Amino acid sequence: MSYLVKPRHLAPPVTERLEPDPSLPRACVIGAGSSGIAAAKALHLARVPFDCFEAGTVVGGNWVFDNPNGMSACYRNLEINTSCPRMAYSDFPMPDYYPDYARHWEVRDYFERYVDHFGFRHTITFGTRVEHVERRTDGVFEVTVDGPDGPQVREYEAVLVANGHHWHPRWPDPAYPGEFDGEQIHAHDYREPDSLAGRDVLVVGMGNSAMDIAVDASYVAASTTISVRRGQWLFPKFLLGRPSDQTPQPTWLPWSVRRRAFDIGARATGDLTRHGLPEPDHRPGESHPVQGDRFVARLRDGRIAARPGIERLAGDRVVFRDGTEVVADLIVWCTGYKVSFPFFDPGFVSAPGNDLPLWKRVVHPDLPGVFFVGLLQPLGAVMPLAEAQSAWVADLLAGRYVPPTDDVVRRETVAEHEAMKRRFYASPRHTMEVDFDLYLADLAKERARGRDRAAAGAPPVFRRVSSPAHPAR
Ligand SMILES: Cc1cc2nc3c(=O)[nH]c(=O)nc-3n(C[C@H](O)[C@H](O)[C@H](O)COP(=O)(O)OP(=O)(O)OC[C@H]3O[C@@H](n4cnc5c(N)ncnc54)[C@H](O)[C@@H]3O)c2cc1C
Ligand SMILES: NC(=O)c1ccc[n+]([C@@H]2O[C@H](COP(=O)([O-])OP(=O)(O)OC[C@H]3O[C@@H](n4cnc5c(N)ncnc54)[C@H](OP(=O)(O)O)[C@@H]3O)[C@@H](O)[C@H]2O)c1
Repeated sequence: MSYLVKPRHLAPPVTERLEPDPSLPRACVIGAGSSGIAAAKALHLARVPFDCFEAGTVVGGNWVFDNPNGMSACYRNLEINTSCPRMAYSDFPMPDYYPDYARHWEVRDYFERYVDHFGFRHTITFGTRVEHVERRTDGVFEVTVDGPDGPQVREYEAVLVANGHHWHPRWPDPAYPGEFDGEQIHAHDYREPDSLAGRDVLVVGMGNSAMDIAVDASYVAASTTISVRRGQWLFPKFLLGRPSDQTPQPTWLPWSVRRRAFDIGARATGDLTRHGLPEPDHRPGESHPVQGDRFVARLRDGRIAARPGIERLAGDRVVFRDGTEVVADLIVWCTGYKVSFPFFDPGFVSAPGNDLPLWKRVVHPDLPGVFFVGLLQPLGAVMPLAEAQSAWVADLLAGRYVPPTDDVVRRETVAEHEAMKRRFYASPRHTMEVDFDLYLADLAKERARGRDRAAAGAPPVFRRVSSPAHPAR
């Protein structure tokens, strides 16, 4: 529902070995999913010395089916819900032969090729988990990693956190009253439609996971019911034959005008209360977008039955708030994810209720040297935003960008967070929403302003602390 972003060009491949500049501060990147590789590429090209640690054995994180890291939510029929041009990094288009919405294995291949194209695979240490990060009084981070050579402590001036935020399942808390005799899984553990065959499946939630899993169930299960505590607007993947996220919409338009695109998308799907779903308690554009073409088709075909929120579990049945009940032997809780940083002491930083206000979704005003990459929920794809965040941080570490004063950073952090909370209804799924194009434009402006500050002689914020015991690369 926003401005068309097409990767502009294919950057030339990086074939020579780029040596890091030893005078620059050292950085540690946690994770080599699509956010971590964007960070690694930006630091590599900026010659910032860094290590990227990846717990798994491959890049791509969530997009690797059965990822040996045990953290991927990828299922057999997963495809992207943000079109390829929108998801691709700005200088590395997805291949023309990909469908408008690529399948998970195509996305994974794309990330693999990105790493090789920009020549930074050697900067990623695979099979190595970051276990603990602690900041010393001199500002240096001691990072404990555990890999094939056992635990080691490394020192860095900066830490780029790219550990993903869709791997820690959020189960209902408190749990619904009553006992259930059947099996209960979270969407994170769902892989194969075969596992649903012949069963009475209850899917809970109305995010994109619930949509996909209910559709899968509707083809093979004995019965498929979806329980929805709060209605959602559903958007079509295509509008007038084009991927719906490629509808041109200039960023200077006010929200009152931009929201019309959401109205059009939602109206195109039609009234879902006719099929038993609750009416949304918010307007289109005030929640994280959910795509429902296939779901709506299966609902209309009577292959999925809709029920309101759960009242209680009752043995082989589930009772809903309207007093109706269904027989079920499998509940799939599609109830979202928790934002977690197991390597930070909770007193250092944590995100209760998924809430972690950050300046431009990257900088915590109280944690100099810690940068979050990809920790946002865009109305659009994550990857180009993680790429822009990474280029910004690389500028900062390379001394080409200087931030504004702490006061400004704090004031803007609060203002950005308040504006987001005013627009989206309160839920753990709505703590870090951003508009794709507006966010990119805002980051580009700030980056330009900070480059001007640097060019005008403002001193760099990060410096290398001398005599590293364990130099990055
Ligand atoms: C089912 C599903 C579908 C989605 N579809 C879309 C979509 O269509 N479009 C979109 O833009 N977004 C989508 N998302 C959002 C998703 O978060 C992003 O697509 C993307 O995976 C974010 O990449 P990431 O690198 O931030 O996180 P991840 O892909 O989760 O990668 C994190 C990486 O960090 C590593 N790691 C974690 N902790 C450590 C540690 N302590 N030490 C070392 N390594 C560590 C992990 O092994 C992993 O490789 C979807 C999410 C889900 C769950
Ligand atoms: N590419 C794709 O097609 C695809 C597929 C799956 C997921 N994704 C992405 O993955 C991310 C996570 O999506 P998700 O669908 O797993 O989670 P989500 O967007 O957080 O949605 C969670 C759903 O569960 C409901 N819920 C939460 N707690 C509940 C409870 N205790 N009882 C009943 N209902 C409860 C929420 O309701 P409330 O709204 O009331 O809180 C919401 O409907 C999103 O970014 C999504 O776009 C993409």
